[in-house]
Amino acid sequence: MPDNVRSYAVAHLAGDGIGPEVTAVARDLVDLAGKQHGFTIDWRHCPLGSEHYLRTGEVLPDEVLDGLRKTDAILLGAVGSPQVPPGVLERGLLLRLRFELDLYVNLRPAKQRPGVDAAGADDLDFVVVRENTEGLYAGAGGIVHRGTAFETATEESLNTRAGVERCVRYAAKLAAKRSGKLTLVHKTNVLTNAGSLWMRVAEEVAADQGVSLDYTHVDAACLYMVSESGRFDVIVTDNLFGDILTDLAAALTGGLGLSASANLNPDKTGPSMFEPVHGSAPDIAGTGKANPAGAALSAALMLDHLGEPEAAAELEGAVDAVLAHGGAATTEAWADALAEQLARTEVTR
Ligand code: IPM
Ligand code: MN
Repeated sequence: MPDNVRSYAVAHLAGDGIGPEVTAVARDLVDLAGKQHGFTIDWRHCPLGSEHYLRTGEVLPDEVLDGLRKTDAILLGAVGSPQVPPGVLERGLLLRLRFELDLYVNLRPAKQRPGVDAAGADDLDFVVVRENTEGLYAGAGGIVHRGTAFETATEESLNTRAGVERCVRYAAKLAAKRSGKLTLVHKTNVLTNAGSLWMRVAEEVAADQGVSLDYTHVDAACLYMVSESGRFDVIVTDNLFGDILTDLAAALTGGLGLSASANLNPDKTGPSMFEPVHGSAPDIAGTGKANPAGAALSAALMLDHLGEPEAAAELEGAVDAVLAHGGAATTEAWADALAEQLARTEVTR
């Protein structure tokens, strides 16, 4: 291979349900973009998920995790299956990857795209920066007195100053590159402990980064997202609020099929992981109906993170162009239309 060809090692963790179908399309598009922009991807197949678990009992073996640490990025389809009890794969695979690889930012853009008949306002265009390693997801808590009338279940929200700060700092820097406005979403009137920490840290970081700071309670944020979304540009919030708000944002912008996410290690001490916001959708797996646009847009976020911003912009542009022409009815039709569009972009570039 000539020296001037850039190459990236990317783990393809297709996962369950429609995961393999949609990431196969995204992978081919990334390869095509690579041909056009002078880079190659060394894809590493990573067969984890429900099938592997049911066959072997393994969720995420340590040696596989160590292999993933050596890659430049991970492209993930979806995990979760009705045959596996809730939490086994979600906690054991997806959350463990987020925690072990220190993917402390979950970046989820929400944007009205051309030609999409969506419930949200036309000018809706914001980004949610979701804290991705702490909060109620951290796994603190337990069950005591199991099986008695007073069985007690607790889930504790962990919020460290360092963890909150690094996430808010990422969001503030992003806001500085966009409109200069950062919105903290929390519930400081009830969650006074965590809320106080988040608020103080957000004030310090916003002042330090020279961005303005707005604050909205999470319940009001849901209302505004529907009725007045133009007030948001960059939202920063904790893990669970971010999880919920981004499904709402997806519904407002044309559904989960179009939503992308990046689980980022912004310090680049290891790979980041890119995945569509949708789940494994076992009900439509294998029918050829899955929409690969969310996976393609996630792959665009991956290319941007790998340092290929032009290829990333062209891939996102291809999705927009296909959407503007009414989208496509099947996974295969999407794949063809997106590839054709990318090829056309090269001609006009
Ligand atoms: C998401 C998903 C996950 C989450 C689940 C599958 C654990 O809903 O990525 O938003 O809650 O983070
Ligand atoms: Mn979610």
